[in-house]
This record gives sequence, C-alpha cells and structure tokens, in this order.
Amino acid sequence: MTNKYKYFVANWKMYGNKKSVNSLKKVIKFSKMSKFKTAKIVYCPPYTILGDFIKKFKNTNIKVGAQDCHFIDGEGPYTGFVSSKMIKQIGSQYVIIGHSEQRKSGDTDIKINKKILSSINNNLNVIFCIGENLKQKKKNLTKKILSYQIKKGLNKVKNFNKIFVAYEPVWSIGSGKIQSEKELFKNIESIRLILKNIKNRHQFKILYGGSVNDKNINLLSKIKNIDGFLIGGASQKPNKFIDIIKKSYI
Ligand code: 13P
Repeated sequence: MTNKYKYFVANWKMYGNKKSVNSLKKVIKFSKMSKFKTAKIVYCPPYTILGDFIKKFKNTNIKVGAQDCHFIDGEGPYTGFVSSKMIKQIGSQYVIIGHSEQRKSGDTDIKINKKILSSINNNLNVIFCIGENLKQKKKNLTKKILSYQIKKGLNKVKNFNKIFVAYEPVWSIGSGKIQSEKELFKNIESIRLILKNIKNRHQFKILYGGSVNDKNINLLSKIKNIDGFLIGGASQKPNKFIDIIKKSYI
C-alpha cells in the first residue's frame, strides 16, 4: 500500500444543514492541489443534504455517500426509510453500512448483510463497519467478534471490489481514545486474515475509524496495513479534515 492512495471518508452523522455546504469550498480547493490529487475523499452527510453535496462536488474528485439504507432493494411501504436504489439514483457512489450507531438502534448482522447485498446490487461502494465494544475487548473477544461480524455481513457477497471494511472499535468512537499502534496493526492483520479466508487473493481495502483527529493522525498514518480513515467529528471542520489528509500524506 502506498500513502498516496489513502481514503478519507467523512461521516457527518446527524449534523449539518444547507449552510454547511459552503464550508466545503476549502476542501474542494485543497483536493485540487496536485500533491493531494490522489487522495480519495468521500463525504457522507445526512440524507437531507445529500443532494446539495452531490451538486457541490460535481466536476471534482470528491465523492458522496449515504450513512445507511434500508435492506429492501427498490421501493416499498417502508415509512421513513431510503433504499440503496434511491441512494444510487440521486448520484451517491458510497454507502456506510453496519455503523455501530445503527447497530445500537436495531441493525442485526442479518439486516446488515441484506443491506450490503442490496447496495452491491445497486452498484454502490459499501463501507462495511465492524468493531468490538469495550466489554468484548476486556473479555479478549475482539478477534472472535470481528470474525463473526465479517462472516455474517459478507454472506453471499460475490463482488468484493465494492467492499471497504471499516474497523471502528465501538469504545473508540467519539471518546478520544485510540488503541496503541501495535494493537491496531494486530487487529487489522486479523481482519485481513479473516477476509483472506473468505476470498483468497482479493486485495481488501481496510479503513480505520474511531477518534481520528489532526493530533493522532501522525501516529495512525504510520500503521502500514491501513488504507484510509473513516472520520466522524473531526471531518466536520474543513481545516481539521484538511490537516488530517495533509499529515497522513507523507
Ligand atoms: P469519531 O471520529 O467522532 O470518533 O467518529 C468515528 C465514527 O463513528 C466514524 O464513522
């Protein structure tokens, strides 16, 4: 893996409004600088401003994704939901699936698997989130949990080119805590091994997420088996987001 092809996915969660679109100008300008042209930037705002982001990033290299989708492929009587087909139709190229905040509000591994299958069917790139919670970590169950989530989530998946696995330890999200370089490297290696057993010889892209910021990025970007980052809080501030990209682009 080369440092020059890192992915930087901004997950805006339930933040942002029409006005926030203006803050993207800086990032667009930055993304055009020749030195950083190969950085792959993806923004995942809430559904309400997905269309605005798509419009804003037209004719740029920056891509847009949704933060979730329904597991039914297409349309149907599902009040309050949005399908992968709709996300694709509006012009998104990515979708986050299985985020721990969605798992907390009812996403099961079976639902996640259906969401992944429908998203691939609609030609979306899937950012498939996995990760252990604190209790599981303390019980030394991390590897087992990761393996379980990967196997269930990727069941029946055939097109692995569209899959990005995002390792987000639940206890690290929004807490300011990250694991040691050594531990993170080891966990990513475990994920690679689990994936290898599912699809030998496929070069999976693995992202890391959980309290990534402009301070710890120096350390995180040294971990050579990570292909990019899924960034929450720090991605909403253009200066911080740009700083993260710059610092990991040595
Ligand atoms: P933070 O970067 O705010 O910890 O959030 C991580 C995350 O959940 C990204 O999907």
